[in-house]
Amino acid sequence: MFSFFSKKYYFVDYLADFTDFHNHILPGIDDGSPDVETSLELLERFEKYGIKNFVHTPHIMNDYYPNTPETIGNALKKLQDSQPKEVKNHAAAEYMMDQSLLDKLDNEELLKISGNFALVEMSFLQPPINLNEILFTLQNHGNVLMLAHPERYGFFHKNDLSKYNDLKRRNCYFQLNMLSLSDHYGKSIQKMAYKLLENQMIDFISSDTHRMQHLDKLETIQLKKKHIDFLEPVIERSKALFN
Ligand SMILES: [Fe+2]
Repeated sequence: MFSFFSKKYYFVDYLADFTDFHNHILPGIDDGSPDVETSLELLERFEKYGIKNFVHTPHIMNDYYPNTPETIGNALKKLQDSQPKEVKNHAAAEYMMDQSLLDKLDNEELLKISGNFALVEMSFLQPPINLNEILFTLQNHGNVLMLAHPERYGFFHKNDLSKYNDLKRRNCYFQLNMLSLSDHYGKSIQKMAYKLLENQMIDFISSDTHRMQHLDKLETIQLKKKHIDFLEPVIERSKALFN
């Protein structure tokens, strides 16, 4: 029978045993958690959802957050020294795709999320002029590219999905931000998130948590059954990165 009231499902109820592999929980090295106490509070909140495994991904962004494997390793150790034993965490990074990233490639390997997957992002203002060259060079160095939050790049929203299709043809994997399922980043971002999801272009999903307000919002996300059906394989694929 037709009903005006379709049941809604809380998104966090689908996250048990998930590994959150894009977040800014490591203390004091980027625009995420400022100190160990805050990091511990964030880990504790995640535990409520059944998430105890993490890959932390501080920004590596030349001008603002010039992190290195060493600064990231030190922040991870600081957290691990005070966190509960049942929490398992590793560290990788979220790399800004710019010239300084290309300059690094001859001397160091990128920190990986899992296998050969490297998490990359670009500016929200404009894509790098030489985006295709950057993608090609990164891939030539053995990196499988996971593009963080493709839905958040407003300059790709024009011309239907053509730019997204182009990135897919260039072997980029797409990682949706959980909060893009809400209006957290704005309505147009939310709309693109669902469009990519319904077109089955989203490969992976993660939280990109910077602060507690992000998790407060995450808990409020309620979805229609049809979107849960689109998300379940994405969640499973994300979990499988760590099996
Ligand atoms: Fe991020």
